[in-house]
Amino acid sequence: MDLITMDDLTNDESISLLEDARRLMPVADGSAYLPLLEGKVLGNLFFENSTRTRLSFETAMKRLGGEVLNLSDVGSSVKKGETLYDTMQMIDGYADIAVIRHPRQGAAQYAADAVEIPILNAGDGAGNHPTQTLLDLFTIKQGHGTIQDLRVVLVGDLRYGRTVHSLSHALSRFGASLTFVSPESLMMPEEIVRDLKSNGCDVAETSDLLSVLGSSDVVYMTRIQRERFPDEAEYEKVAGIYTINSDDLANAPSNLMIMHPLPRVSEIHPSIDSTSHAWYFRQAFNGVPTRMALLCRSLGVPIPEVIN
Ligand code: CP
Repeated sequence: MDLITMDDLTNDESISLLEDARRLMPVADGSAYLPLLEGKVLGNLFFENSTRTRLSFETAMKRLGGEVLNLSDVGSSVKKGETLYDTMQMIDGYADIAVIRHPRQGAAQYAADAVEIPILNAGDGAGNHPTQTLLDLFTIKQGHGTIQDLRVVLVGDLRYGRTVHSLSHALSRFGASLTFVSPESLMMPEEIVRDLKSNGCDVAETSDLLSVLGSSDVVYMTRIQRERFPDEAEYEKVAGIYTINSDDLANAPSNLMIMHPLPRVSEIHPSIDSTSHAWYFRQAFNGVPTRMALLCRSLGVPIPEVIN
């Protein structure tokens, strides 16, 4: 099974993956050993920078007893001009499953079409990042006990932000009300807003973050992504536009979750790190159990009901 966008999963399949991830938590944190993927090889193909996605996939595979091949454009024959198609033919022979991150939107689907093994999209340009969405949903469930009917605010680079593109689609299918907070130049693409609304999602848009903090269940901050701007001057106009600190949360609901896919630059002041609102580091850890669940499912390996 490939995972290119969240449309590749039904709601029931997403919920089942979150339940699998919950059961795998002792394996993810190293307190239990369960070599379900012994003898399997993961191709970790990163043509764009990553810390969390690459390392959490590697940790997930290794904690399940599997092996990992790492490939990036630096140090591989991509630098000699090898095409993505040819690279994928090699991976098809060397690995049982592959994760791909690529700067070009659509590259994960292209890779999936080129090979037989399952392909998991780890971020394709400004397109989608569905494995991030699974760990985001898992984290929201940890915090609120449900992913159903929540009020979620998505903040920052909504135009180029693949995390918010995937997450907003998934949340809308679970009845969320969404508020998009961005400067005008980085608003959520019109086609995504239209799609969400046509599916019955309640969507609001504003540029004023502080006005919506008090009436939210989740605030999902994102970085203004310098690398996606065609023009540096346009980036400079909006760099650092949204920053929250612990004083801003003084009147926020006690169970308000502050999330961020990371890396952060200046969006979340460190004064929030020690508050009960800070979920972003737990969120990053949750990449391990959710990606374990996804690897098992994609490779057709069942997860035991009880793990200890
Ligand atoms: N959240 C996320 O995709 O982080 P990385 O870019 O470090 O993988």
